[in-house]
Amino acid sequence: MSKSLIIANWKMNPQTLAEANRIFSSIEKGLRKIKNKKAEVVICPPFQYLSVINNQLSIIKLGGQNCFWEEKGAFTGEVSPGMLKDLGCKYVIVGHSERRKYFQETDELVNKKIKAALENNLNVILCVDKVSQIKKDIKGLSKKQFKNLVLAYEPVFAIGTGRPCSIEKARKMSALIRKTLKTNIPILYGGSVNSKNARGYLKEAGMNGLLVGGASLDPQEFIKIIKAAA
Ligand code: 13P
Repeated sequence: MSKSLIIANWKMNPQTLAEANRIFSSIEKGLRKIKNKKAEVVICPPFQYLSVINNQLSIIKLGGQNCFWEEKGAFTGEVSPGMLKDLGCKYVIVGHSERRKYFQETDELVNKKIKAALENNLNVILCVDKVSQIKKDIKGLSKKQFKNLVLAYEPVFAIGTGRPCSIEKARKMSALIRKTLKTNIPILYGGSVNSKNARGYLKEAGMNGLLVGGASLDPQEFIKIIKAAA
């Protein structure tokens, strides 16, 4: 992967569409000013903003924060991979620790979601906290399907706490994941990423990109993080 992948996970933010539009436009504007673009930028807003943001899309790609494994039917409140695709999504986050914690998503469910998303030609960003989760989550995937899979190492202690993982630990984890999977899969780091620590994960820890939560809602800060990839 030549370009770094910088992904914004807005989680359940912001609270209005007007604010979502404002943040998106500011990021887009900032990104246009970067001459030597060394990053692919993806924004994963809440589902209900996807359609409006999709109509303004240009250089920024869109992603969903979650998906269901069935295509359609009586599944109240769920969103299928096909629906995400139809709204212009190229990516979907699966297995985020907040989904595992608050919605009891098991490795088995995560596995079903990954398969459904890949069958719909979405690129999957699989979030894991431990290496032991990975094999269960990707069970049954063909080597060909690995092409559309990105792993995000997100240690739970670092998420939203302002206590990021050390560069050394992140470096060891990326090496361990690659060794375990015996493939050169892109690996992102996520957890309290900011403009000060971004470069360390990309340059010293050997990460192929970043999954950014809180800091991605601040356009200036997020643009600085994108610049760290240059
Ligand atoms: P923070 O960047 O807010 O710690 O969130 C990380 C995260 O969970 C991204 O998916």
